[in-house]
Amino acid sequence: MQEILKKLEKEALESLEKADTLERTKEIEVQYMGRNGHLTMILRGMKDLSDEEKRVIGPLCNSTKNTLEEAFAKKIKTFEEEALAKELSKEFFDTTIPGSARPLGHIHALSQLQEEVEKIFSQMGFTVADGPEIESEYYNFEGLNIPKDHPARDMQDTFFIQEKNDEKHGRMVLRTQTSPVQIRMMEKYGAPLRLIVPGRVFRFEATDASHDSMFYQVEGLLIDKNISLAHLKGVLAEFLTRLFGKPVKVRFRPGYFPFVEPGLEVDFSCLLCEGKGCRVCKHSGWMEFMGAGMVHENVLKAGGINSKEYQGWAFGFGLTRLVMMRYGIDDIRLLTNGDLRFNKQF
Ligand code: DAH
Repeated sequence: MQEILKKLEKEALESLEKADTLERTKEIEVQYMGRNGHLTMILRGMKDLSDEEKRVIGPLCNSTKNTLEEAFAKKIKTFEEEALAKELSKEFFDTTIPGSARPLGHIHALSQLQEEVEKIFSQMGFTVADGPEIESEYYNFEGLNIPKDHPARDMQDTFFIQEKNDEKHGRMVLRTQTSPVQIRMMEKYGAPLRLIVPGRVFRFEATDASHDSMFYQVEGLLIDKNISLAHLKGVLAEFLTRLFGKPVKVRFRPGYFPFVEPGLEVDFSCLLCEGKGCRVCKHSGWMEFMGAGMVHENVLKAGGINSKEYQGWAFGFGLTRLVMMRYGIDDIRLLTNGDLRFNKQF
């Protein structure tokens, strides 16, 4: 065995010596080291030897293998270096020319704002939750106290994407609001709860400067014992003050949403004139911001929460609208049409 290995090594090194091209070198490499190469076959035969033999032959095999591997690698490298040198000598190659810069991307204005919103609410102890964009009629409507055939259904034009489903869940729809995640989270985690849900929503709607068939919302939900709208006002004023970096006031007006009772429209004091009245706020001193209210008993019930013990509030605002207000963007389509001249400004 020892003899055979010695001979094999010698032969391999001799033919390697004679090889005068890269191709020939690689051929020889395969001959000895390839899947069916001479040395490979010997190595494979090792497993049939006795332990005694393995102890003697093993190291020999390894050393032959290492010697050959090194020799082949060295020769191949020599050929490659020669080829490169030849290539380089063909034309003048200025190694001092600076490389071409790769354009760097950055986070989209909407996503930047979403990250800021998530950060502020996280600091106030809210979880960031998520739900499906393809939702059932049950979660998008019924569970939220919007029954079939009720005129409140028509408040949101809907993409229905599947006719049949089971009785309870109805058809599948592209969610028209982030509110369905309220029910999903109540079902999953029970009370108490403190969460926000940023995400995309869809409406069957003609597109113009202020409407799009897809936009972003942020839902908020807080369920606990002895919760009132005073907590909502405090949380929202704090959120907006941190977001805009200056004191912002919040105002409630009555509003109607099927899933809250009482329901509210929430405004915040105009950032530009700080409530005095200017062109931006149409001289009212306030900007319309979102819908909110105390979570309706039927919604708590749908989420499996005992409304005698727990209550809470919810809100929903348009993240897309907020980014437009923040930067004075006057056409919603700019946010999604991918025009770099627009995106690079943020
Ligand atoms: N889902 C509503 C919409 O899309 C917004 C909303 C209003 C959400 C009131 C709420 C709420 O949670 O309490 O118009």
